[in-house]
Amino acid sequence: MQSIPKHIAMIMDGNGRWAKKRLLPRAVGHVKGASNVRSIVQACTHYGVEYLTLFAFSTENWRRPEDEVSTLMDLFIQYLDKEVSEMREAGIRFRIIGDRSAFAPSLQERIERAERETSHNTKLHLTIAANYGGQWDILRAAQLWMQANPNSSIGELEPAGLKNYLSTHELPDPDLLIRTGGESRLSNFLLWQMAYTELYFTETYWPEFDKPELELALDWFSKRVRRFGQTDEQVLGEN
Ligand code: IPE
Ligand code: IPE
Ligand code: MG
Repeated sequence: MQSIPKHIAMIMDGNGRWAKKRLLPRAVGHVKGASNVRSIVQACTHYGVEYLTLFAFSTENWRRPEDEVSTLMDLFIQYLDKEVSEMREAGIRFRIIGDRSAFAPSLQERIERAERETSHNTKLHLTIAANYGGQWDILRAAQLWMQANPNSSIGELEPAGLKNYLSTHELPDPDLLIRTGGESRLSNFLLWQMAYTELYFTETYWPEFDKPELELALDWFSKRVRRFGQTDEQVLGEN
């Protein structure tokens, strides 16, 4: 395998349809999906991926039935309780991006503890996007910039300035996006950050997205020519 993406973002979609196909409740799909996170984190560490950002809950997912939202919150808490000590040992730095003020205070405390206890790790930066929306992130960044620069006018705001106030300011932009579950859309994920990300869509439902499936995505990525607006010749050094 030639070039491994430094930062992979994933939209973990298809838990509900995975369960429906088996005549199981959607909640079972979410349980299975949550347990798959662990194997994908391991596989990414194996391939030397440095940053992995997973979309777990969007700002729009509050629109789902109340019992489904509460299943997802419970799984999130269980994940934090189960995995943090292991992440600490495995050299994984854990972060949450998204509006955490909407979460129960006990969940916010767990998140802060997980971030604090893994803050010295550098092997893999694992970021979970929870109550995250790309539009929320961009708007908030502009507001934070204005607060920090009270004597400036909005006309002075530049892309590099805004980037400093995004929730991902400590992370490089994603090189590869993987969306499971067959949809070819971004669903309000990292809108600003994915301006030049390679987009990979697979029909495979998230609970079934395993290491061989990840390898297919990595193979596909290694064949892309990333031009960033330039020509092939410039990028390949022929000019
Ligand atoms: C992804 O699976 C999990 C979340 C969005 C929280 P879905 O629950 O969206 O599964 P489908 O798309 O209905 O199959
Ligand atoms: C995107 O999946 C959000 C997450 C995976 C957390 P959705 O299932 O919510 O996306 P839409 O509604 O089909 O666009
Ligand atoms: Mg979905």
